[in-house]
Amino acid sequence: MKENNNRRFCVAPMMGYTTPYARKLYRILSRNSFLFTEMIPAKSMINSKNKDLVIENNDNNPVALQVGGSNLNDLKICSEIAYSYNYDEINLNVGCPSKAVQNGKFGACLMKDKVLVRQCLESLQNNKIIVSLKCRIGLGNEMNYEFFEEFIEEVSKSGIKIIYVHARNAILSGISPSQNRTIPKLDYNFVQRIKTKFPDILFILNGGIKSLQEAKDLSNDYDGVMVGRLIQNNPFVLARVDSMFYNDGKNTSINEQIIFDYFKYIKTKVDNESIFRLLSPILNIFFGVPNSKIIKSRINEHMKNRNLNLIEDIFMHFVKKNNLLLN
Ligand SMILES: Cc1cc2nc3c(=O)[nH]c(=O)nc-3n(C[C@H](O)[C@H](O)[C@H](O)COP(=O)(O)O)c2cc1C
Repeated sequence: MKENNNRRFCVAPMMGYTTPYARKLYRILSRNSFLFTEMIPAKSMINSKNKDLVIENNDNNPVALQVGGSNLNDLKICSEIAYSYNYDEINLNVGCPSKAVQNGKFGACLMKDKVLVRQCLESLQNNKIIVSLKCRIGLGNEMNYEFFEEFIEEVSKSGIKIIYVHARNAILSGISPSQNRTIPKLDYNFVQRIKTKFPDILFILNGGIKSLQEAKDLSNDYDGVMVGRLIQNNPFVLARVDSMFYNDGKNTSINEQIIFDYFKYIKTKVDNESIFRLLSPILNIFFGVPNSKIIKSRINEHMKNRNLNLIEDIFMHFVKKNNLLLN
């Protein structure tokens, strides 16, 4: 079992975003950030025809594979799969509030059944891979610390030692998944209080962290931080994570080498994957850059013909010209 991965700075699992391609870019930008896959439903992990494409890790370690499910046998198989694809950790999603996920009996609705969550975590344990949980602090409109503590008390009996906490409730009906990331009130105190009750468990704080400096300040008071939308909007901030959070060298330079390494990787995937999924992580390089609309529309034109060489040239030229702005 792999141990000692440093989860001081984690990039949150995000469906549609933390794809194998995005994770490659994140890893080029930061050697140390702890990464997550998107949530993969257990049934897809086991049965999907494209599973290699979805589960693929590409040695972007340290990285956790996140699973959604509550069928104990399926979860057992998923843990073996995570181990065989060289993941560092398998993480159970008990935080997603979407209707589709509720219909499949996984995600945040499982917080109603803490015994089942404990059993799920026990099924994931195979003594080969670390098992962890990602959850909310409660359900519905009421803030109820006792509910959260009783939930953690039960799931901790499984022996898990790492819990990522999105520090707001999930509201299971009446609001959308994206509203569920803004409307329920954030309360970091729940995470501080639970840590004092269970000092042997690592609690990683997630939710509403808006800048690297804020993440850094919080990381002094918590076992680690997990950041989602900040990275979704601008993955290039990861270039500063190794020096800020891990005392590991200088900031990564955003230069032609990064473009070269990223394109070298996605060129091997172009026959089997949507060009948009391949390019969307790196398109965020234009975040906040004035007058980048023209460049983006040129890239769009070449995307239609799937011409990665021409697109790579455009990125190379852009990076060279905007070196000072990007770094
Ligand atoms: C587009 C998107 C997709 C997400 N998909 C997942 C997911 O697959 N699994 C999960 O546990 N959380 C998912 N989340 C929630 C994030 O992991 C995180 O808990 C949430 O965004 C709060 O962190 P933030 O405020 O730093 O963004 C998703 C969030 C976003 C924005």
